Amino acid sequence: MTEADYARTLETWRQHGRTNSRPIVVDFRDLVSEIVPERSTHLLHSYPAKLLPQIPHFFLGAHKTIQPGAPLTIADPFCGSGTVLVEGIIGGCPVVGADSNPLARLIARVKTCPIERARITRQLARIHEQIALIDEAPLPRTVNVKLWYKKTVANDLAKLAYTINRIRSNDVREFMQLCLSVCARRMSRADPRLSVPVRINPGRKKQYGTHYEQLRKHLRAADTQSTITAFDEIVKRNCSRLRELDELPVSPLVQIHDEARHLDKAIDRNSVDLIITSPPYIGAQKYIRASSFGIGWLGLSEDSLRTIEDQNIGREHFPKRTYEEQIKTGISRADRQLSSIRNINPLRAHIAAEYLREMRDSLKAMHASLRVGGNLVLVVGPNTICGQAFDTPRYLEILANEIGLTTEFKLIDHIRSRGLMVKRNKTAGLISSEWVLYLRKTND
Ligand SMILES: C[S@@+](CC[C@H](N)C(=O)[O-])C[C@H]1O[C@@H](n2cnc3c(N)ncnc32)[C@H](O)[C@@H]1O
Repeated sequence: MTEADYARTLETWRQHGRTNSRPIVVDFRDLVSEIVPERSTHLLHSYPAKLLPQIPHFFLGAHKTIQPGAPLTIADPFCGSGTVLVEGIIGGCPVVGADSNPLARLIARVKTCPIERARITRQLARIHEQIALIDEAPLPRTVNVKLWYKKTVANDLAKLAYTINRIRSNDVREFMQLCLSVCARRMSRADPRLSVPVRINPGRKKQYGTHYEQLRKHLRAADTQSTITAFDEIVKRNCSRLRELDELPVSPLVQIHDEARHLDKAIDRNSVDLIITSPPYIGAQKYIRASSFGIGWLGLSEDSLRTIEDQNIGREHFPKRTYEEQIKTGISRADRQLSSIRNINPLRAHIAAEYLREMRDSLKAMHASLRVGGNLVLVVGPNTICGQAFDTPRYLEILANEIGLTTEFKLIDHIRSRGLMVKRNKTAGLISSEWVLYLRKTND
């Protein structure tokens, strides 16, 4: 399909939406089959609940055809590892992102920053020279190294971190930090199938079933492979992934901020043409725990992981006193449902209510940032809370409509696989489909 085909499809969906409020079933993997996962810098670093690149690619292509001329300004206020931003710069657009997770911001910056590959090669040689001169380096405070690493591996990672954190040029330092974060995860005893670190227990042969051999192999490699060799391999492979960025005709214009609710303070009001974003899920993801090795080894934050997590919309930890009373979301159907959930589990009800309140603030900031006539593409999944279906997409749509973002159409894409979207406990449900709400700012 070409960009003109995307524009025609978008127009068909708009027409459907004028007379019919029911969602259209789509499969973005099939619809945009020309996109391969190994495209540009998308695979530099893993990240939980990454967005399918097909989704931003489609909407960007369609909008570029509909609004030819000056490049569109694209924003993603929950940019995570930067999937939307990467697609935006490939499409020649200025991009604005935000994420409260410092590791996500680092990944997004590196993924959108062209670097001359010879500089990386030279810096890698210097890292080798420098670590050869160091016997020992400080271990990170926030990573329980004894639990996750063999002593020699931890020592090598510490020397790498010490050396890399002193690289003077920002772009090369951040590239090397990203590679170190990948290496710290690979050389750990954590189960590679999960994004949150869970230590592999070789005694659990029965529970692991067919994965047992793969996990044993991983443990063996983590204990025997040279950390420095693993780091070298990661640097070389990631360096070759930067090639496509080198070929961009113009230098990308990228801004990355830290709080979705303040997007409108960080940039000019009415300045964004198109927002494409997948907000966090209600209590379904542990972005900070999944990033804990990277944040810890790189010393990305002075704050404790819990303090960073407190900025996270959809977080799961609240002091008991905060949920003694039910807070109201202002959506009557959601409030009725939450009061029934409260009878089963007051914390779960509070997590969902806070989520909706904080998402209202984020939607207000998105509305203020968009120009009149600009669009918001909101990708969001439904939840199950305490066994009850919780219609998060509908509740977010109600909030968006109240703020002045009008629904043009809705899509539903059934997910075939999604990292970490597994059922973890009885109270948080499996997410099996994704909604795409296409909204328009109708007035200021
Ligand atoms: C579903 S993920 C986005 C993934 C992203 N689309 C990608 O492809 O990597 C949601 C993101 O929202 C971020 N987040 C949570 N609360 C936030 C807040 N208050 N401001 C900005 N980002 C936040 C999380 O850190 C997480 O990275």
